[in-house]
Amino acid sequence: MSTDRDQSYRLSNKDYKYLCQHVYESTGIVLGDNKREMVYRRLTRIIRERKLASFSAYCELLKSCPEQEHNYFINKITTNLTSFYRESHHFDFLAQQELPRLLSKGLHNNRLRIWSSASSTGEEAYSIAITLLEAFGHFIKRCDVKILATDIDSNVLTTADKGIYEARKMDGVSAKLKQKYFHKGVADNANHVKVSDELRQLITFKELNLLGEWPMKGPFDVIFCRNVIIYFDKPTQEELFARLHDILKPGGLLILGHSENLGSYQQYFENVARTIFRKLTVQG
Ligand SMILES: C[S@@+](CC[C@H](N)C(=O)[O-])C[C@H]1O[C@@H](n2cnc3c(N)ncnc32)[C@H](O)[C@@H]1O
Repeated sequence: MSTDRDQSYRLSNKDYKYLCQHVYESTGIVLGDNKREMVYRRLTRIIRERKLASFSAYCELLKSCPEQEHNYFINKITTNLTSFYRESHHFDFLAQQELPRLLSKGLHNNRLRIWSSASSTGEEAYSIAITLLEAFGHFIKRCDVKILATDIDSNVLTTADKGIYEARKMDGVSAKLKQKYFHKGVADNANHVKVSDELRQLITFKELNLLGEWPMKGPFDVIFCRNVIIYFDKPTQEELFARLHDILKPGGLLILGHSENLGSYQQYFENVARTIFRKLTVQG
Protein backbone atom coordinates (compact mmCIF):
# COMPACT_ATOMS: atom_id res chain seq x y z
CA MET A 1 0.00 0.00 0.00
CA SER A 2 1.20 3.52 -0.67
CA THR A 3 2.79 5.35 2.21
CA ASP A 4 1.74 8.90 1.37
CA ARG A 5 -1.56 8.71 3.17
CA ASP A 6 -2.47 9.06 6.79
CA GLN A 7 -1.55 5.68 8.29
CA SER A 8 -3.30 6.21 11.62
CA TYR A 9 -5.48 3.15 11.17
CA ARG A 10 -4.59 -0.26 9.82
CA LEU A 11 -6.92 -1.78 7.24
CA SER A 12 -6.30 -5.52 7.35
CA ASN A 13 -7.09 -7.80 4.40
CA LYS A 14 -9.78 -9.45 6.48
CA ASP A 15 -11.55 -6.17 7.25
CA TYR A 16 -11.20 -4.94 3.67
CA LYS A 17 -12.70 -8.19 2.40
CA TYR A 18 -15.61 -7.84 4.82
CA LEU A 19 -16.26 -4.23 3.74
CA CYS A 20 -16.12 -5.17 0.02
CA GLN A 21 -18.52 -8.05 0.56
CA HIS A 22 -20.91 -5.83 2.50
CA VAL A 23 -20.88 -3.21 -0.28
CA TYR A 24 -21.34 -5.87 -2.96
CA GLU A 25 -24.29 -7.50 -1.25
CA SER A 26 -26.00 -4.20 -0.53
CA THR A 27 -25.38 -2.31 -3.77
CA GLY A 28 -23.87 -4.57 -6.44
CA ILE A 29 -20.77 -2.35 -6.47
CA VAL A 30 -17.59 -4.38 -6.89
CA LEU A 31 -14.62 -2.95 -5.00
CA GLY A 32 -11.38 -4.41 -6.26
CA ASP A 33 -7.98 -4.06 -4.65
CA ASN A 34 -7.47 -0.89 -6.69
CA LYS A 35 -10.19 0.79 -4.60
CA ARG A 36 -8.48 0.12 -1.29
CA GLU A 37 -7.02 3.59 -0.97
CA MET A 38 -10.35 5.19 -1.77
CA VAL A 39 -12.16 3.04 0.80
CA TYR A 40 -9.46 3.81 3.34
CA ARG A 41 -9.77 7.55 2.81
CA ARG A 42 -13.55 7.67 2.88
CA LEU A 43 -13.95 5.42 5.90
CA THR A 44 -11.17 6.95 7.96
CA ARG A 45 -13.37 10.01 8.24
CA ILE A 46 -16.25 7.94 9.63
CA ILE A 47 -13.96 6.13 12.06
CA ARG A 48 -12.81 9.49 13.40
CA GLU A 49 -16.34 10.87 13.58
CA ARG A 50 -17.45 7.77 15.51
CA LYS A 51 -14.34 7.98 17.73
CA LEU A 52 -13.52 4.33 17.01
CA ALA A 53 -10.07 2.85 17.49
CA SER A 54 -9.76 0.81 14.31
CA PHE A 55 -11.25 -0.49 11.07
CA SER A 56 -12.02 -3.72 12.92
CA ALA A 57 -14.13 -1.78 15.40
CA TYR A 58 -15.93 -0.15 12.49
CA CYS A 59 -16.58 -3.57 10.91
CA GLU A 60 -18.01 -4.76 14.24
CA LEU A 61 -20.26 -1.71 14.34
CA LEU A 62 -21.51 -2.50 10.82
CA LYS A 63 -22.13 -6.13 11.75
CA SER A 64 -24.25 -5.15 14.72
CA CYS A 65 -25.46 -2.49 12.51
CA PRO A 66 -28.39 -0.22 12.85
CA GLU A 67 -29.82 0.62 9.43
CA GLN A 68 -28.78 4.25 9.86
CA GLU A 69 -25.10 3.29 10.11
CA HIS A 70 -25.41 1.06 7.08
CA ASN A 71 -26.92 3.92 5.03
CA TYR A 72 -24.22 6.30 6.16
CA PHE A 73 -21.58 3.78 5.08
CA ILE A 74 -23.14 3.22 1.66
CA ASN A 75 -23.53 6.97 1.08
CA LYS A 76 -19.80 7.37 1.75
CA ILE A 77 -18.83 4.58 -0.63
CA THR A 78 -20.82 5.59 -3.72
CA THR A 79 -19.15 7.71 -6.38
CA ASN A 80 -21.53 10.47 -7.42
CA LEU A 81 -19.70 12.32 -10.20
CA THR A 82 -22.16 13.93 -12.60
CA SER A 83 -22.85 17.20 -14.39
CA PHE A 84 -25.46 19.03 -16.41
CA TYR A 85 -25.66 17.73 -19.98
CA ARG A 86 -22.98 15.13 -19.32
CA GLU A 87 -22.60 13.19 -22.60
CA SER A 88 -24.65 15.83 -24.36
CA HIS A 89 -25.28 13.67 -27.45
CA HIS A 90 -27.87 11.76 -25.41
CA PHE A 91 -29.91 14.93 -24.88
CA ASP A 92 -29.49 15.89 -28.55
CA PHE A 93 -30.86 12.50 -29.56
CA LEU A 94 -33.82 12.95 -27.25
CA ALA A 95 -34.63 16.43 -28.58
CA GLN A 96 -33.95 15.84 -32.26
CA GLN A 97 -34.99 12.23 -32.81
CA GLU A 98 -36.83 10.50 -30.01
CA LEU A 99 -39.29 13.17 -28.88
CA PRO A 100 -40.33 14.05 -32.46
CA ARG A 101 -40.74 10.31 -33.15
CA LEU A 102 -42.86 9.73 -30.04
CA LEU A 103 -45.01 12.78 -30.61
CA SER A 104 -45.58 12.10 -34.30
CA LYS A 105 -46.79 8.58 -33.61
CA GLY A 106 -48.96 9.90 -30.78
CA LEU A 107 -48.39 9.15 -27.11
CA HIS A 108 -50.80 6.69 -25.55
CA ASN A 109 -53.03 8.74 -23.21
CA ASN A 110 -50.61 11.65 -23.77
CA ARG A 111 -48.38 9.92 -21.22
CA LEU A 112 -44.58 10.20 -21.27
CA ARG A 113 -42.44 8.54 -18.61
CA ILE A 114 -38.69 8.92 -18.26
CA TRP A 115 -36.51 7.35 -15.57
CA SER A 116 -33.12 8.65 -14.50
CA SER A 117 -32.15 5.50 -12.64
CA ALA A 118 -28.88 6.54 -10.96
CA SER A 119 -29.54 10.23 -10.81
CA SER A 120 -26.92 11.26 -8.26
CA THR A 121 -27.36 14.95 -7.37
CA GLY A 122 -30.01 15.52 -10.04
CA GLU A 123 -28.16 17.22 -12.90
CA GLU A 124 -29.12 14.38 -15.28
CA ALA A 125 -32.84 14.64 -14.46
CA TYR A 126 -32.86 18.45 -14.71
CA SER A 127 -31.05 18.22 -18.07
CA ILE A 128 -33.79 15.85 -19.27
CA ALA A 129 -36.48 18.25 -18.05
CA ILE A 130 -34.89 21.21 -19.84
CA THR A 131 -34.56 19.11 -23.01
CA LEU A 132 -38.27 18.26 -22.90
CA LEU A 133 -39.37 21.82 -22.28
CA GLU A 134 -37.06 23.27 -24.91
CA ALA A 135 -37.99 20.77 -27.61
CA PHE A 136 -41.73 20.54 -26.98
CA GLY A 137 -42.63 22.92 -24.17
CA HIS A 138 -46.05 23.81 -25.52
CA PHE A 139 -46.94 20.14 -25.89
CA ILE A 140 -45.27 18.90 -22.70
CA LYS A 141 -47.33 21.34 -20.65
CA ARG A 142 -50.56 19.78 -21.92
CA CYS A 143 -49.37 16.17 -21.46
CA ASP A 144 -48.97 13.80 -18.55
CA VAL A 145 -45.17 13.96 -18.40
CA LYS A 146 -43.18 12.64 -15.46
CA ILE A 147 -39.51 12.12 -14.82
CA LEU A 148 -38.65 9.70 -12.03
CA ALA A 149 -35.13 10.20 -10.66
CA THR A 150 -33.75 7.62 -8.24
CA ASP A 151 -30.50 6.76 -6.50
CA ILE A 152 -29.35 4.51 -3.68
CA ASP A 153 -27.59 7.40 -1.94
CA SER A 154 -29.90 9.46 0.26
CA ASN A 155 -27.44 12.37 0.54
CA VAL A 156 -27.29 13.05 -3.19
CA LEU A 157 -31.08 12.92 -3.35
CA THR A 158 -31.32 15.66 -0.73
CA THR A 159 -29.18 17.87 -2.97
CA ALA A 160 -31.19 16.90 -6.04
CA ASP A 161 -34.45 17.63 -4.27
CA LYS A 162 -33.29 21.12 -3.25
CA GLY A 163 -32.13 21.88 -6.79
CA ILE A 164 -29.45 24.30 -5.66
CA TYR A 165 -26.12 24.17 -7.47
CA GLU A 166 -22.84 26.02 -7.49
CA ALA A 167 -22.93 28.43 -10.42
CA ARG A 168 -19.36 27.54 -11.40
CA LYS A 169 -20.36 23.90 -11.98
CA MET A 170 -22.88 24.79 -14.67
CA ASP A 171 -20.54 24.94 -17.66
CA GLY A 172 -22.71 22.52 -19.62
CA VAL A 173 -25.69 24.91 -19.54
CA SER A 174 -25.85 27.80 -22.01
CA ALA A 175 -26.37 31.36 -20.74
CA LYS A 176 -29.81 31.41 -22.36
CA LEU A 177 -30.94 28.22 -20.60
CA LYS A 178 -29.47 29.36 -17.30
CA GLN A 179 -31.47 32.53 -17.50
CA LYS A 180 -34.64 30.70 -18.44
CA TYR A 181 -34.59 27.79 -15.97
CA PHE A 182 -32.47 28.90 -12.97
CA HIS A 183 -32.73 31.66 -10.40
CA LYS A 184 -29.53 33.36 -9.33
CA GLY A 185 -28.87 33.42 -5.62
CA VAL A 186 -28.40 36.71 -3.84
CA ALA A 187 -26.21 37.89 -0.97
CA ASP A 188 -24.67 34.81 0.73
CA ASN A 189 -26.03 32.60 -2.07
CA ALA A 190 -24.59 34.69 -4.89
CA ASN A 191 -22.43 31.77 -6.03
CA HIS A 192 -25.39 29.44 -6.35
CA VAL A 193 -28.39 28.98 -8.62
CA LYS A 194 -31.74 27.30 -7.95
CA VAL A 195 -33.79 25.39 -10.50
CA SER A 196 -37.11 26.92 -11.49
CA ASP A 197 -40.42 25.45 -10.30
CA GLU A 198 -41.22 24.61 -13.91
CA LEU A 199 -38.32 22.11 -13.97
CA ARG A 200 -38.73 20.92 -10.40
CA GLN A 201 -42.36 19.93 -10.84
CA LEU A 202 -41.59 17.56 -13.71
CA ILE A 203 -39.38 15.41 -11.49
CA THR A 204 -39.94 13.08 -8.54
CA PHE A 205 -36.80 12.12 -6.61
CA LYS A 206 -36.87 8.83 -4.68
CA GLU A 207 -34.40 6.54 -2.97
CA LEU A 208 -34.15 3.25 -4.85
CA ASN A 209 -31.57 0.47 -4.98
CA LEU A 210 -31.35 -0.85 -8.54
CA LEU A 211 -30.77 -4.30 -7.06
CA GLY A 212 -33.79 -4.15 -4.77
CA GLU A 213 -37.56 -3.96 -5.24
CA TRP A 214 -38.87 -1.44 -7.75
CA PRO A 215 -42.17 -0.07 -6.48
CA MET A 216 -43.07 1.58 -9.80
CA LYS A 217 -44.83 -0.27 -12.59
CA GLY A 218 -43.66 1.76 -15.56
CA PRO A 219 -43.66 1.25 -18.43
CA PHE A 220 -41.05 3.83 -19.36
CA ASP A 221 -40.48 5.47 -22.72
CA VAL A 222 -36.86 6.23 -21.91
CA ILE A 223 -34.49 5.03 -19.18
CA PHE A 224 -31.18 6.69 -18.43
CA CYS A 225 -28.93 4.17 -16.68
CA ARG A 226 -25.62 5.92 -17.10
CA ASN A 227 -22.29 5.43 -15.39
CA VAL A 228 -23.54 3.05 -12.76
CA ILE A 229 -23.43 -0.46 -14.25
CA ILE A 230 -19.70 0.03 -14.70
CA TYR A 231 -19.44 -0.58 -10.94
CA PHE A 232 -21.30 -3.92 -11.19
CA ASP A 233 -20.08 -7.36 -12.25
CA LYS A 234 -21.44 -9.15 -15.34
CA PRO A 235 -24.09 -11.30 -13.59
CA THR A 236 -25.47 -8.21 -11.78
CA GLN A 237 -25.45 -6.23 -15.05
CA GLU A 238 -27.33 -8.95 -16.91
CA GLU A 239 -29.92 -9.28 -14.18
CA LEU A 240 -30.42 -5.52 -14.26
CA PHE A 241 -30.66 -5.39 -18.07
CA ALA A 242 -33.40 -8.02 -17.96
CA ARG A 243 -35.39 -5.93 -15.47
CA LEU A 244 -34.80 -2.70 -17.39
CA HIS A 245 -35.95 -4.46 -20.57
CA ASP A 246 -39.13 -5.58 -18.81
CA ILE A 247 -40.00 -2.14 -17.50
CA LEU A 248 -39.38 -0.38 -20.84
CA LYS A 249 -42.17 0.07 -23.36
CA PRO A 250 -41.75 -1.90 -26.57
CA GLY A 251 -39.60 0.42 -28.68
CA GLY A 252 -38.47 2.33 -25.57
CA LEU A 253 -34.92 3.60 -25.16
CA LEU A 254 -32.22 2.50 -22.76
CA ILE A 255 -29.34 4.97 -22.50
CA LEU A 256 -26.03 3.86 -20.99
CA GLY A 257 -22.84 5.72 -20.05
CA HIS A 258 -19.90 6.25 -22.39
CA SER A 259 -17.90 3.20 -21.32
CA GLU A 260 -20.82 0.84 -20.82
CA ASN A 261 -22.41 -1.77 -23.07
CA LEU A 262 -25.13 -4.40 -22.99
CA GLY A 263 -22.82 -7.37 -23.49
CA SER A 264 -24.79 -10.43 -24.46
CA TYR A 265 -28.04 -8.60 -23.71
CA GLN A 266 -27.49 -6.53 -26.87
CA GLN A 267 -29.58 -9.09 -28.81
CA TYR A 268 -32.75 -7.75 -27.17
CA PHE A 269 -32.07 -4.17 -28.30
CA GLU A 270 -31.22 -2.27 -31.44
CA ASN A 271 -28.24 0.08 -31.13
CA VAL A 272 -29.68 3.32 -32.57
CA ALA A 273 -26.87 5.73 -31.66
CA ARG A 274 -23.77 5.88 -29.47
CA THR A 275 -24.72 4.04 -26.22
CA ILE A 276 -28.45 4.42 -27.03
CA PHE A 277 -30.45 1.20 -27.37
CA ARG A 278 -34.02 0.60 -28.48
CA LYS A 279 -35.99 -2.32 -27.00
CA LEU A 280 -36.83 -4.73 -29.76
CA THR A 281 -40.43 -5.79 -30.04
CA VAL A 282 -40.78 -9.55 -30.20
CA GLN A 283 -42.45 -10.74 -33.40
CA GLY A 284 -45.11 -13.20 -32.32
C1 LIG B 1 -21.22 8.23 -11.25
S1 LIG B 1 -22.86 8.52 -10.70
C2 LIG B 1 -23.72 8.67 -12.26
C3 LIG B 1 -24.70 9.82 -12.27
C4 LIG B 1 -25.41 10.06 -13.58
N1 LIG B 1 -26.17 8.92 -13.99
C5 LIG B 1 -24.42 10.44 -14.66
O1 LIG B 1 -24.14 9.64 -15.55
O2 LIG B 1 -23.90 11.57 -14.61
C6 LIG B 1 -23.35 6.87 -10.17
C7 LIG B 1 -24.55 6.90 -9.23
O3 LIG B 1 -25.03 5.56 -9.11
C8 LIG B 1 -25.52 5.41 -7.78
N2 LIG B 1 -25.60 3.97 -7.46
C9 LIG B 1 -24.61 3.09 -7.21
N3 LIG B 1 -25.09 1.87 -6.95
C10 LIG B 1 -26.44 1.97 -7.05
C11 LIG B 1 -27.51 1.04 -6.88
N4 LIG B 1 -27.29 -0.25 -6.55
N5 LIG B 1 -28.78 1.49 -7.05
C12 LIG B 1 -29.01 2.80 -7.35
N6 LIG B 1 -28.05 3.71 -7.53
C13 LIG B 1 -26.77 3.31 -7.37
C14 LIG B 1 -24.52 6.17 -6.93
O4 LIG B 1 -25.04 6.53 -5.68
C15 LIG B 1 -24.20 7.36 -7.83
O5 LIG B 1 -24.97 8.49 -7.48
